[in-house]
Amino acid sequence: MLETTFSIIKPDAVSRNLTGQIISRFEAQGLKVVASKMLQLTQAQAEGFYAEHKGRDFYEPLVAYMISGPIVVQVLAGENAIALNRQIMGATNPEKADMGTIRKDFALNMRENSVHGSDSPASAAREISYFFSQTELCLR
Ligand code: PPS
Repeated sequence: MLETTFSIIKPDAVSRNLTGQIISRFEAQGLKVVASKMLQLTQAQAEGFYAEHKGRDFYEPLVAYMISGPIVVQVLAGENAIALNRQIMGATNPEKADMGTIRKDFALNMRENSVHGSDSPASAAREISYFFSQTELCLR
């Protein structure tokens, strides 16, 4: 099934100049970048994006971290893109991530874990529309 999913290359990865290596992994495993931009999140944008985690102990440090430097937001397309992207990323906790995944190879800890990817079709739709208008997706 051809799907689109939403991806963030997080501040720890952008600041360590890993953006190209991370995008290469998506491309090498069959995902196509169909929209991309680098930006600096505002506090309000970060709070809204992670609103489902509001109240949890990691929420405030997570928001502070996500506004600490530039990120790259992208839409990735491909067969089973949502699941494939999560497989390429690896587990949230890098200590538990499989060998060869982005988080195993690059993440520093649960918070500075280099990438975000949508976990369901509903999240993908919400997250893509949070950052991109439909006309910004180059799907053809
Ligand atoms: S959970 O617990 O299943 O809801 O966690 P998850 O869906 O994997 O997403 C949690 C996001 O918060 C970031 N984060 C942490 N999670 C858990 N514990 C700690 N201490 C923590 N610190 C930060 C984690 O990286 C997930 O970010 P995203 O961008 O959603 O992948």
